[in-house]
Amino acid sequence: AKKLTLPQCKEVKKQGKRLRMITAYDYPFARLVDESDIEIILVGDSLGMVVLGYDSTVPVTLEEMIHHCRPVVRGAKNTLIVADMPFGTYNVSPEDAIRNGNRMLKESGIEAVKIEGGTHIAPTVRALVDAGIPVMGHIGLTPQTAAQLGGFKVQGKTEEAAEQMLKDALALEAAGAFSVVIECVPAGLARTITDSLSIPTIGIGAGPFCDGQVLVIQDLLGMYDRFIPKFVKQYAQTGPVIRSALNEYAREVADGVFPDREHSFGMDDEMKGLY
Ligand code: KIV
Ligand code: NA
Repeated sequence: AKKLTLPQCKEVKKQGKRLRMITAYDYPFARLVDESDIEIILVGDSLGMVVLGYDSTVPVTLEEMIHHCRPVVRGAKNTLIVADMPFGTYNVSPEDAIRNGNRMLKESGIEAVKIEGGTHIAPTVRALVDAGIPVMGHIGLTPQTAAQLGGFKVQGKTEEAAEQMLKDALALEAAGAFSVVIECVPAGLARTITDSLSIPTIGIGAGPFCDGQVLVIQDLLGMYDRFIPKFVKQYAQTGPVIRSALNEYAREVADGVFPDREHSFGMDDEMKGLY
């Protein structure tokens, strides 16, 4: 399929079609996604938790993010690639955000960044967009500041919080964001926000009425079991499949069953099939 462009995201919403987004952090998964019907890859800072083993997304550095964006760009030539700006790389000043956003685009080849926050971050969104750095917003549960929110909780449950979230979404749109992720929000509120914006909303734990959906690829594939939120649907249980393959290999090596003749060389064999 042809690569989705940033302006086309809005067209997809107008046409009432759904945007499909998934995370990826390396070359092999980027290739698999690129060959699928998913249009957008997010190199999320969930990297910190599902790949780097941190307890939150807060420790992720700009260098780590760029390091993982680069193989994703190499592996997914036909997919729109967006990447999270890590905590601490856009909250100092708009100028600092531009400097760091420039590095992400220049050093990795991704096309857009995502930053968390609402009205208070809108001036930074404006500055990034004016500097030529496309921005996806992220409201509702914002993992980088989850501690401030009192943990991983559904957001926008009071009338006041819901009103503020709508204001946040409108401020991001006015600041030039091309889309906005809505995380862990009651479905009705996500619908109201979606209906109020001309840019697409991409939901995660935000019900069926958003213009698109996103999941963490390890969650979708059933490979990450440290924490499984309610909104995760496992479309496969690859964790157990991988574990049993590893143990079968271990057992066959222990028993001297692998390698057999079929997987060994004779004197006349060429190195066929070797990389
Ligand atoms: O880091 C991430 O993976 C995200 C998505 C889940 C929205 O921000
Ligand atoms: Na993120």
